[in-house]
Amino acid sequence: MSVSASRFDHPPLTPEELAATRKPFRAASLLPGRVFHDPAVLAWEVEHFFARDWLVVGRAEEAPEHGSYFLVEVAGEDIVVVRGRDEELRAFHNVCRHRGTAVVEEPCGKIVRFQCPYHAWIYDLDGSLVRAKHLEDLEDFDVKDYGLVPIRLAVWQGWVFLCLSDETPPLEASLGDWMEHHARRDMSTLRRAGRLEYDVKANWKIIAENYSECYHCPGVHPLLNRLTPYDLGGDWYPTGPWKGGWMPLDEGYDTMSMDGGREGRPLLPFTTPEDDRKILYHILWPNLIMSIHPDYVLTHHTWPIEPGLSKVYCDLYVTADTLEAGFSVASALDFWDLTNRQDYHVCEMQQRGSASRSFSVGRYSNQEASVHAFDIMVADRYAMDGVRTSRGRRTGEGKVRSRRGSAAAR
Ligand code: FES
Ligand SMILES: [Fe+2]
Repeated sequence: MSVSASRFDHPPLTPEELAATRKPFRAASLLPGRVFHDPAVLAWEVEHFFARDWLVVGRAEEAPEHGSYFLVEVAGEDIVVVRGRDEELRAFHNVCRHRGTAVVEEPCGKIVRFQCPYHAWIYDLDGSLVRAKHLEDLEDFDVKDYGLVPIRLAVWQGWVFLCLSDETPPLEASLGDWMEHHARRDMSTLRRAGRLEYDVKANWKIIAENYSECYHCPGVHPLLNRLTPYDLGGDWYPTGPWKGGWMPLDEGYDTMSMDGGREGRPLLPFTTPEDDRKILYHILWPNLIMSIHPDYVLTHHTWPIEPGLSKVYCDLYVTADTLEAGFSVASALDFWDLTNRQDYHVCEMQQRGSASRSFSVGRYSNQEASVHAFDIMVADRYAMDGVRTSRGRRTGEGKVRSRRGSAAAR
């Protein structure tokens, strides 16, 4: 079911407000401060990004067998993802077709059928209404017309994507070269080994911008900066709605953890000799952050709650074999908890300061090409003019920079 967007059919910012960000990287300025604070901008983003684009909402193994389900909230919609008797994953609005009651209450579990808690309408796992009492003499009523409302769902490498809009192209077409970029990996065997949760008093885009540069790393992350020096690395130049790059591990360190060691964990099966000394960082539009380490995959899922409040789930994945073998991930999780808290502290400080009447936007340093890459994904969508701003290209593209190199982003 498409969500009506008629209230939002005009751009949330004027062309003049967006012009400075849409310039070439070296000439560009950061996004106007209003995009982090204005409730009308967030409402527009919810309609145009979160209610229209394909979004990762979880992993297929979260509903491992028929009847198992989990609830998610996307763009204010309460949604149930459930595995059917035919093993297919499906998603439905968690809304009874009688009087609109939420059919499922517990956040996850296993059921035989859906039974609405109010008047006990019963729906099969495929969403069809199978039983409802006292409707037998209704005129113009057919149970076939009253199934749970489905939502588009697709699974790629174990990641469950949903799309609330019927007009958005299929997942593969929507992601551009994302799947091709990851084609040599099979992430379907990953299993979640740990989760960290944060309520961050900052706009969701501030968190994405923060993730997109390591300009702040020497001061904010002394430990991270020791494992992966901030000025080493390079970026990819994708054609799809994502951006990212890599940072090499310094000598003597094998992964991102409190001591740079892997606690015995084996390398991921798709780690090649070339990338077993690198951390690969990605943001898949709009809100999935994915970093691939030699021995684990980490995601940060950022969900806007208010203009100045975001929920972040940080999940650490290893293969099912590694998880079953009982390897600890404590040192890696501790490292990311420390790093996340350092990041979210400065994000919250930016949220506070950028609300000031005195604030006018700053310029990108030459370490922030990847921040600009994210910001133009935002600005081009705000503009609604079909123009795609080209990304800056750093010299030395594709090469690991020397420590004296002038530009690198993670
Ligand atoms: S609201 Fe669901 S059965 Fe009445
Ligand atoms: Fe950081």
